[in-house]
Amino acid sequence: MNILITGATGFIASHTIVELQQNGHHIIGLDNLSNSSIDTIDKIAQITGVTPEFYSIDICDYNGLMSVLADKKIDCCIHFAGLKAVGESVSKPLEYYDNNIGGTITLLKVLREIGCLNIIFSSSATVYGTPAFVPITEDCPKGICTNPYGWTKSMIEQVLLDTHHANPDWNIVILRYFNPIGAHESGIIGERPNGIPNNLMPYITQVACGKREKLFVYGNDYDTPDGTGVRDYIHVVDLARGHVKALDAIRNNCGAEIFNLGTGNGYSVLDVIRTFESVNGINIPYEIVSRRPGDIASCYAEPSKAEKILGWRATHTLQDMCRDSWNYQSKNQD
Ligand code: WQD
Repeated sequence: MNILITGATGFIASHTIVELQQNGHHIIGLDNLSNSSIDTIDKIAQITGVTPEFYSIDICDYNGLMSVLADKKIDCCIHFAGLKAVGESVSKPLEYYDNNIGGTITLLKVLREIGCLNIIFSSSATVYGTPAFVPITEDCPKGICTNPYGWTKSMIEQVLLDTHHANPDWNIVILRYFNPIGAHESGIIGERPNGIPNNLMPYITQVACGKREKLFVYGNDYDTPDGTGVRDYIHVVDLARGHVKALDAIRNNCGAEIFNLGTGNGYSVLDVIRTFESVNGINIPYEIVSRRPGDIASCYAEPSKAEKILGWRATHTLQDMCRDSWNYQSKNQD
C-alpha cells in the first residue's frame, strides 16, 4: 500500500515507517520539522535500506499539501503530526487547538479531495482523563482531560467519528497509545526530546549519561502499591507493529474502530527506576518531590480488543524497554 505518514520524523512515526517498509509498504512522509530532525529520514534508510519519500510541509498548509498529494495514489494516511508537550499546551492553548485540530481538519479535507477515505489516528490514553476504572477497556468513558494537549486528542477523535458518521465510506482507526518508551534495537533511532524531558524514560536516560544530576519523582503518596504513579509502558516497536496491523482493519473496511495499544501491565516509577538500574547496571539517583499538577495515580490498558480484532499483542518486556532506551541514549550522546 501507499501510506501517507504525517509527523514522519517523530519518535513513533519513524519507528512505524521502519516496520511498514519492512512489510513492503511505500511511504510518503510529511513533517514541518518544528520538533524533529530531517536526519531521521537517513537513519530510517540506514535501518531498512529504503529512503522514504519525504516532503517538509505543515499539515495546516492546504495548498502545500495539495501541491504534493494531488497526483498521488494514497491508500491510507497514518496521522501522527501534532504538538504534544503537555505543559506547553497549558501555556499555549490557542496554538495547540489551532495546530492539532485545525491541522487535522485541513488534512481530512485534502484526503477527501484526493479520494483517500482511510485514516489511522495517533490518539492517547490521556483521553480517559482520570479513568473510571482500570484496567481500561475501549468502552471506558472518556474523561476530563487535564490539559489542552489531551483535549486536542479527545476532540480530534470526535471530528473523525463525526466524519465517518456523515459518510460511512470513511474508514477510521483510532489508536489510543499508553506510554511509549524504548527505541529500535539498532540504537539508530529513538526518542529525542528538545530541552528538559517532560517524560520519565528520557529523563532517566539523561541521568544515566550524566546530563542530569538526578531524577525528581513526582509524588509517592498516590493510592498505588509503592505510592508512585503507575503507567502502562509499551515498547515503541510494539506500538509501531500495532499500526501495521491496523492497516489490515482498514483494508477490511472496518468503519470506525478504537483500540487501546498497551501491554496491560502497570508499572510504578520506582519499578521503572529499579528495572533500568538492574538491566543496565547504572545507578539512577532520585529525589521524591511533590506531585506534578495534572498527573493521575494509575493508568493501564486492558488490551484484549486489539488482540482479538487486529491479532496484535505487545511482546517486549519492561527490561527490553529499559535496555533499548539506554542503548539509544548511549549511542546518541549529543
Ligand atoms: C510517567 C510517570 C509521572 C517524569 C504523558 C502524556 C501522554 C503521553 C505520554 C503523548 C508519571 C512520573 C515523570 C519525571 C516522574 N504523551 N515522572 N518524574 O504523564 O503518564 O503521559 O506522556 O502522547 O499523553 O500525558 O508520562 O512519562 O510524563 O510520566 O516522576 O521527571 O512518571 O509523575 O507518574 P504521562 P510521563
